Amino acid sequence: MTVGIDRINYYVPKTYLDLETLAAARNVDVAKYKRGIGQEKMSIPDLHEDIVTMAAEASAPIIDNPDQIDMVFFATESGVDFSKAAGIYLHKLLNLKPTVKVIELKQACYALTSALHLAIDYVKNHPGQKALVVSSDVAWYGFNTPGEVTQGAGAIAMMISENPRLATVTPGVTYTSDVPDFYRPNTMDVPVVDGKFSIDCYLEALKETFQAGDYPYVCFHMPFAKMADKANASLTSSKMDEDQLAVIKSVSKEIGNIYNGSLYLALIGVLIHHPQGLEGKTIGMFSYGSGSIGEFYTLTLTPRYASVNPVDRYLKGLSERKSLSIEAYEKAMNHYVKREHSLDYQAPLSQGFALVAIEKGHRIYKAK
Ligand code: CAA
Repeated sequence: MTVGIDRINYYVPKTYLDLETLAAARNVDVAKYKRGIGQEKMSIPDLHEDIVTMAAEASAPIIDNPDQIDMVFFATESGVDFSKAAGIYLHKLLNLKPTVKVIELKQACYALTSALHLAIDYVKNHPGQKALVVSSDVAWYGFNTPGEVTQGAGAIAMMISENPRLATVTPGVTYTSDVPDFYRPNTMDVPVVDGKFSIDCYLEALKETFQAGDYPYVCFHMPFAKMADKANASLTSSKMDEDQLAVIKSVSKEIGNIYNGSLYLALIGVLIHHPQGLEGKTIGMFSYGSGSIGEFYTLTLTPRYASVNPVDRYLKGLSERKSLSIEAYEKAMNHYVKREHSLDYQAPLSQGFALVAIEKGHRIYKAK
């Protein structure tokens, strides 16, 4: 029985900060952000958004029948509760049946890749069932920090089923190593980051796991787009040229780091640039989660992937956004941080899937 990814979707908030605006405010040469880091924009969650609403926005368009889903894997490193899985809130918003199992997974930016493999194993062991795999994160490093320029927010959703229309996936090669490159203790809002060391750890994990092959693309986890150039340059074989690199960076550079989903934004970039034509082609996928785990696996597009490749919808997600002033960005992130500390909260606005209130720490959402 063939099991794999039947459909994939991404969601980014409708507001972003242009890095020219950030560079001017932080008195930094904009070339550092655009050429040195490789980013153009960072997405900013709107006042009604959190990881649950973004996950719902990413998931809803790929669910034809909620009753077909039997398992939900929710990967995040910006969880809203130490105990309750964010996926339980998502389960209600998506109107899934009560027999669905829901769990949350964490290992920095790697958990989504792990969730994908677990979901495939689950469906193989439960013939006829489907699993929803979702990640949602807000990458928040704080104002005036080296990581600020690499922030972002967004979600990825994938439907895992038998006879998948999009892609099949091979088990990967992993490399686990206890390193203090990036971690966020329970008491902190922002991660403790040794930026340069984290890049070394990423490249070490890539070296230990990479499998050479005849790939049209290798998608890399992209905490910032320039990381893909560094990763590609470190390879001793299967290197991509500038045009290929531009494709895998095309979506990420417009959004920033969405942690777990960042690798999959590279894949969305490939799908946008190839509405068809990659049938049967195998793409390399390198996932990295600080702390750390790296995994290299491959994904083969099916002969009918074009039938589940909604390029217009993917492009609309990027084009239908508005630019924020530096003041509006700072206000939005101050609101986000304050809200995440609140046990009681009433939302100032509600649109789409929305977090409308927090009551004694319990979150109240509104479906679309
Ligand atoms: N014009 C053009 N380029 C310029 C420039 C200018 N005026 N000024 C500087 N640059 C270049 C630098 O030469 C440098 O390029 P190289 O990396 O090729 O040498 C680049 O811009 C960045 O400059 P700095 O190294 O001085 O930047 P920094 O000290 O501000 O830190 C960073 C950069 C380490 C990435 C920092 O943003 C950071 O800590 N980010 C968060 C951590 C991170 O993303 N780590 C990645 C691996 S860990 C991971 O992948 C997990 C995850 O998701 C976090």
